[in-house]
Order: sequence, then C-alpha cells, then structure tokens
Amino acid sequence: MSMIRSVIRGCGGYLPERIMTNDDLAEMVDTSDDWIIERTGIRTRHIAADGELTSDIGVASARQALERSEMDATDIDLIILATSTPDQTFPATAVSIQAELGITHGAAFDMQAVCSGFVFALATADNFLKSGQYQRALVIGAETFSRILDWEDRGTCVLFGDGGGAVVLEAQKLNGVATDRGILASQLRSDGRYRDKLFVDGGPSSTGTVGHLRMHGREVFRHAVTNISEVIVDTLKGTGYTADDVDWFVPHQANRRILEGTARRIGLSSEKIVMTVENHANTSAASIPLALNTAFEDGRLQDGHLVLMEAMGGGFTWGAVLARW
Ligand code: UT7
Repeated sequence: MSMIRSVIRGCGGYLPERIMTNDDLAEMVDTSDDWIIERTGIRTRHIAADGELTSDIGVASARQALERSEMDATDIDLIILATSTPDQTFPATAVSIQAELGITHGAAFDMQAVCSGFVFALATADNFLKSGQYQRALVIGAETFSRILDWEDRGTCVLFGDGGGAVVLEAQKLNGVATDRGILASQLRSDGRYRDKLFVDGGPSSTGTVGHLRMHGREVFRHAVTNISEVIVDTLKGTGYTADDVDWFVPHQANRRILEGTARRIGLSSEKIVMTVENHANTSAASIPLALNTAFEDGRLQDGHLVLMEAMGGGFTWGAVLARW
C-alpha cells in the first residue's frame, strides 16, 4: 500500500574556520595530545569566531543542503533546528534561520535533546511530513558548544567543537515497502533519572545565567553502548533488515571507543562506520549531519544506500533512525 515517505533530497554542512589542536589545549589545561587521542580519538575541533552565532552556522549548512537538493528556500514549509546552544533564550534560533533564508510561511522551531537532537528532529519532521501537514522540511543541527564549555575543566573542554549540518526532507508518495527511499523507521527514548549526569549548570529559570557544561563522563560512557545498541535493535525490528544490510553507520560522534564498541555489539563491521570525531570532536546535535555531509562529499554515501543513525546525550536521551539515501 502506498504511503508518504520523508525522502532525503540533500545535505550540507559548515565548520568554522578556526581549528584548535590537542596541543593548543595542552597550553590551556593539564592534558596531552596522547591522552586525548587514546581516550577519545579526537585530534582537532573547530571553534566559532567571535560574533559567529549558531544561527550563522545553521544558515550556512541549510544553504548548502538546499542547493544540493535543487530547491529554493521558499519551497520549505518546516524548519526544525536541533541545538542546545541557541543564539538567545528566546525566540527560537530556528526563526532567525527562517528569516535569514527569506521564508515567511510554515513553521520553524528549536528542538532540545542535546546530542540526540538531530535524531529527535529528524523523527519529528518525518512524522509531520507523513501526516501530510508539511511538504518539505529543513532539519538542521547547529552548535556553538565552545560558548558553554568551562575552559579550565580538562575533563570536558577537550571533548567538544562547533559546527553545523542540515538535510532537506521531501514528502513523497512511495510504495510503503522497505526498499523505498527515505526514512524507514525511528525510535526515540528519554530517561530523566539521569539528567544530572550531563547537564549545564545554569538556565533562565534557575540561575539566570547561561552556565557551563558538566559531565560525569565515565557514567555516560557506561550507559552509552547498552542504550544505543538496544534502540538500534528496536529500530531495525519490523523493517526486515539486520545490521548486515546497513551500508553506513552514521553515529553521533562522542568518542571513538563508544562508536567502535556499539558497532561490535550490533555486529557491524568497522569499515561501515562514518567516523568524524577525529577532526570535528563532539559537536552535539551537529555531529550526525556533519558526518552525513562528510560521507556524501567523499563519495561514500550513494543513492539507495541504507543508513543507520544513532545518538545518545544529556537527559539521558537517545534514539536511532534508519533511512535509505
Ligand atoms: O555526547 C554526549 C555523550 N558524551 C559522551 O559520550 C562522553 C562519554 N564519556 C567519555 O567519553 C569518557 O568518559 C571521557 C573521554 C570523558 C573520559 O575518559 P575515561 O576513560 O572515562 O577517563 P576518566 O574520566 O575516568 O578519567 C581518568 C583519568 C582521571 O585521572 P585520575 O583520577 O585517574 O588520576 C582524570 O582526572 O584521566 C584524567 N583526565 C585527564 N587527563 C588528561 C580527565 N580528563 C583529562 C584530560 N587530560 N583532558
């Protein structure tokens, strides 16, 4: 039976010009290139310039995704921006992006699920498109985590970077079979009992300040592989596919050890992992669309490929999306 699918028409990405190396960080805090590489796989990260905002990064990513989709901005009637580093407390940064792109119809809003934000935004947009309420969506992940880091805390400041990525989704009536293009399945999870494991120690209603990122890294690590593996199994269930059928595993890029551990646990060969953590570090909600963009630009990601995306982040929140490119 035919059904509406959210087909990915194109992707884009943007990284700020400034690159910060592990050696640069070793001049700021008591750390070393060796420690960071061994524990995380990270070598470099990009840092937004003074005055460069999350909305600027989002707009640059969106423009590239629109161009590659051969669409005008005005074709878009839904914008969902996944971010934890909005330009302001309100309005939503998505409306700044909407205005910059010259769009005056449809809806634009932010989604807050920290590092899982892009997966949450993609699943949300998919449901709006499948319901028939909107036709074409821009789903963006954009972050300036450098602005919420405590640059004296070596346990966190070495892990994150800035950047953005975007995809354009279009509602298309397809056959309703697993060989269709577009988003085939998604699963989202949250468990607020763990909200104090990864958080920002400020906010408008609590301290009246922006605050800094705090993390119990080892505890996040402990939950990551199990939670992610379980949600991947649930996402694949019902599609008729197994991990063997997946062409590209495009995970949230938190830590090389988590990505490799998850791939091993679900039985996916390591050559199928799109890994960008080495050059981008953890860009939170931007890391999956940036990784998609990397695999698209270097020619790995081709039409018809089966792509498995997953993420886990503060909350805890976690989820996975299976899509055919
Ligand atoms: O995207 C959201 C999800 N976030 C994550 O998935 C992050 C998950 N967690 C991790 O990736 C890891 O836990 C970290 C990379 C954050 C830390 O690695 P770890 O192997 O869990 O190290 P640890 O926190 O247990 O610390 C080990 C040691 C400690 O020293 P002592 O107490 O053993 O003397 C830390 O003080 O490493 C020390 N340490 C550092 N040393 C050099 C912590 N940060 C650093 C650093 N450089 N930057």
